[in-house]
Amino acid sequence: MAKLNGSKKIKTAVFISGRGSNLINLIKFSLKKNSPIRIELIISDNSKAKGLIYSKRYNIKKKIYLFKKRNIAENKILDKLRNKKIKLICLAGFMKILSKNFIKKFRGKILNIHPSLLPKYKGLNTHERVIKNNEKFSGCTVHFVNSKLDSGKIILQKKIKINKNETANTLAKKVLRQEHILYLKALKKLYC
Ligand code: GRF
Repeated sequence: MAKLNGSKKIKTAVFISGRGSNLINLIKFSLKKNSPIRIELIISDNSKAKGLIYSKRYNIKKKIYLFKKRNIAENKILDKLRNKKIKLICLAGFMKILSKNFIKKFRGKILNIHPSLLPKYKGLNTHERVIKNNEKFSGCTVHFVNSKLDSGKIILQKKIKINKNETANTLAKKVLRQEHILYLKALKKLYC
């Protein structure tokens, strides 16, 4: 995707399923003058996602698609994205796996944040598994999304030291703080 020339921000949709701490972080960033993105749409597969409150607070349109049938939900989403001329998708705690067909339509334009040092610890419950395996380091990764889970090209990673008495909970908090920094860095690296 072309880098930003200063006049036009990239129309972006953020996909969430839950709390939305990455979403609010992205929203605040997008409102800055020198941010390369403008968030035009929040999409969720979960009508109870806490992060949906930011839609009203920041006056950003939201849409919920329940994914009972993935292909139907995805086709509706694709229509919506086309309709709103969305050029970039940021996954932020989105818990559904997107199909190959969907990803093909937005190749190289879907980013995700994952709370581990990929390719280690793909999938769920990363912090629990990291602690259980007595790892010395963990971290987070921003990557492009391809058709395999948490396997697309890595854009940036941040490594974090694990303390002796670290728990999955304390680690999750530490990593999340770094996620918020890393996602913005990745966007600047790609588009500024
Ligand atoms: C984050 O840890 C993110 O890396 C993972 O899901 C979590 C979402 O948190 N994919 P939030 O909803 O952004 O607060």
